[in-house]
Formats: sequence, structure tokens, C-alpha cells
Amino acid sequence: MSKGSRLRARKKSEGLSEHGLINGWADAAGVRVRQARAGDLSAIADLVPLAGVGLEDVLREAVTAEFAGAALRSGLRGGPDAFHRHLAEQFARSFDDPLQAYLHAALVLVAEHRDRGIVGTLIAYPPINVADDHLQVLPADVDRREAQRRVVMLGAIGLAKIKAVAVAEAERRRGIGAALLKRCRQIYVHCGYLLLYGAMPPTPGLSAFYRRQGFDVMEPGAPLDMWMVFGVHSRILPGADERFFFRRFQPGTVHPGR
Ligand SMILES: CC(C)(COP(=O)(O)OP(=O)(O)OC[C@H]1O[C@@H](n2cnc3c(N)ncnc32)[C@H](O)[C@@H]1OP(=O)(O)O)[C@@H](O)C(=O)NCCC(=O)NCCS
Repeated sequence: MSKGSRLRARKKSEGLSEHGLINGWADAAGVRVRQARAGDLSAIADLVPLAGVGLEDVLREAVTAEFAGAALRSGLRGGPDAFHRHLAEQFARSFDDPLQAYLHAALVLVAEHRDRGIVGTLIAYPPINVADDHLQVLPADVDRREAQRRVVMLGAIGLAKIKAVAVAEAERRRGIGAALLKRCRQIYVHCGYLLLYGAMPPTPGLSAFYRRQGFDVMEPGAPLDMWMVFGVHSRILPGADERFFFRRFQPGTVHPGR
């Protein structure tokens, strides 16, 4: 490969593209951020308990079968329209099992150090239980089947939950956590998402970490209103001792710098 084509290939991988997601962006000290592959799963399973969660079997299977994030990859190729089209096809295929479609919008990222292997991970996805909960607040007189279809679709394309961000202890405070969050935000915003949120434990330093990445951090126990996704007010609550952090986006926002 000539020097010129090497430079062009490198430039392409640094930008927001499907190629970057698959092959990685050189984002932080000696580390590339990329989508997870089957061979990364045991390292991910070792890291996520640091964030107080486990790695769900459905997500493992989706990564192994390479359909985790397939809709996001379509979105990186063709923008929000391509992302929506991809998900609509998945829903049409498996409407009675919407989890499968939701997994096409799941993002499992790893941060890979050139010498030390996988040193960080981020897991995010549209949370299907929020759409399910929202169905409970629908007025009784609506056509249930149609309303269910709309809510389940809006939930899948509108909000994504950051389930875990975890960096190996020896690798912290070098910008790896920030790099994982930045790529996660850019990808979901590029695909047209309106709300990115998560629930954090009361660990000292975490609020500062999320605020620095442009998230709002709520008071412990305060509810988060999902009106901007579903068009009516419905609130979700964090777990005991937890607080929500969130970032909202305007439709049509194209991955702002920070
Ligand atoms: C939160 C976490 C992912 C940050 O990763 P990281 O690679 O160190 O993040 P960055 O280097 O981008 O940012 C570091 C900043 O995070 C903040 N921070 C986060 N957790 C902190 C902690 N436990 N102690 C001190 N600072 C912390 C600080 O503001 C720090 O900035 P500073 O070094 O200038 O003081 C990492 O600390 C971690 O894996 N924690 C355990 C898992 C966890 O709690 N995840 C979040 C659950 S919602």
C-alpha cells in the first residue's frame, strides 16, 4: 500500500463510519475503540462487573452471530433513514419478538490496547422494558395493537441506555472511558436518537466524569421523563441509591464535537 493510500485509509478510520466502528478509531493513549467481536466476549464479561452489571446471554449471542449493532452499522452507512429502514425490516420480521430488533440497535464497544489487549468496554442499547412500561400508561380507549407497535418502535429508535462503561483499574484516567462514551454518543446521534441515558451508583468521581462528557446528572432517586421520545409524559425511576445521567439531542443533530 502506498503512503498516500495508507494515509487515506487512516483518515477514513478516524471519522465516523462503519469502517471505523468495525476496525477501530485510535482515540486514546495507545488504544483503539471498536465494536466487539466474539473473541472479545470473555474480556468483556470480566470487565462489566466493575460497573456492577453482568453480560446478558442475549447480547453474547447477538455479538457472536454478528447482528448486535447491525442497524447502527446501516445507519453509519446511510444515516438515520437507513437505520430506521433496517429496524423496520427487523420488526416486520419478528414483531412478536421485538427483542431481536432491539438487539440490532445494541452497541458493544471495546477499547483495545496494542500491547495489553481489551482494557475497556461500553454496552448500550434501547431498553425494551421502558417501552413495555410505557404501554401501561396508554389510555384505555386506544387501539392496543397499533399503539403497542408505535411505542415499541419509538422506544427502539428514540432512546438508548448506557448499561455499562468499564475500564480496567490500571488503565484509568487516560481518557479511555471518555473515548468510549464519545463514540457511543456519536453513533446513536448519527442514527437519529433523541435521548441517551444511564443510571449510576454513588461512586465518588462518577458525576464529574459524566458531566465532563456533556451529560446532565440528576439528584439521587429523581425520575427521568420520557416525553421527548414517546410524546407524552411517562417517568422512569432509578434503582435504590442510583441517579440518572442523560443527554438529549435535537432531531437532525449530527454528532456534535463534545
Ligand atoms: C468511570 C470509568 C469508566 C472512567 O474511565 P477512565 O478511563 O478512567 O475515564 P477518563 O480517563 O476518560 O476520565 C477520568 C475521569 O473520571 C472521573 N472519575 C470517574 N471515576 C472515578 C473514580 N472512581 N475516582 C476518581 N475519578 C473518577 C474523574 O473526573 C477523572 O478525571 P481526572 O483524572 O481528571 O480526575 C472508570 O473509572 C471505571 O471503569 N469505573 C468503574 C466502573 C463504573 O463505575 N462505571 C460507571 C457505571 S455507571
